[in-house]
Amino acid sequence: MKRSYDTIATFYDRLARIIYGNTLMNAQIYLLKKIPPNSRILIAGGGTGWILEELSRIHPSGLSITFIDISPKMIALASARNVGGNKVAFVTAPIQDISFPNDFDVVITPFLLDNFSEETLKVIFLKIDTSLATKGLWLFCDFQNTAIWWQRTVLKIMYLFFRTFCGVEAEKLPHINEAFEQNSYTIKEEKAFISGFVMARVYEKISHSL
Ligand SMILES: C[S@@+](CC[C@H](N)C(=O)[O-])C[C@H]1O[C@@H](n2cnc3c(N)ncnc32)[C@H](O)[C@@H]1O
Repeated sequence: MKRSYDTIATFYDRLARIIYGNTLMNAQIYLLKKIPPNSRILIAGGGTGWILEELSRIHPSGLSITFIDISPKMIALASARNVGGNKVAFVTAPIQDISFPNDFDVVITPFLLDNFSEETLKVIFLKIDTSLATKGLWLFCDFQNTAIWWQRTVLKIMYLFFRTFCGVEAEKLPHINEAFEQNSYTIKEEKAFISGFVMARVYEKISHSL
């Protein structure tokens, strides 16, 4: 069977905290605060689902959430979370295989897009783009290439680790910013973490992409 995040699901959050402290969580919490009440939300690659508990602290009810992850173990952990009064539908599948109606108000891709080769990124970007309503928000956070030597080294080690243990296909960061630039997105707000190594951005979809 192909390796996936199943192999590290039970200790993924601890691992992320050991390496990055609270930064990866803080980048996501920054984005969650931008979500309007009563939104229909797609969370893609949501991992262990701690984000659902954080969301329920900000919006105790009224949200309608579709939470998708390719890893059955991640979905099992996420399903056990306290989601408050929000409605959550869990989907265990590669996002590229699922068709959604194009009516999400918000999509969230927390540290998802860095997993893919340029070719797969194109497919997944289009899939998520199609699911987001015009004027909807794409809450994006991920790593970025910087000129800082230790950050470049950490990124290389991360790819080696995730390719070996989780079967991640990418060997380096794909051109994610360019995907947003080439499609119909505008940056509404952004925040850099660890000198720009991690970037959180609120993109607004200004029209349907071509
Ligand atoms: C780096 S982890 C991030 C987890 C979580 N967002 C977080 O920040 O704690 C990437 C997640 O994306 C999921 N994933 C990878 N490829 C996927 C795909 N094609 N479709 C859906 N989920 C995927 C993995 O199973 C994993 O849970």
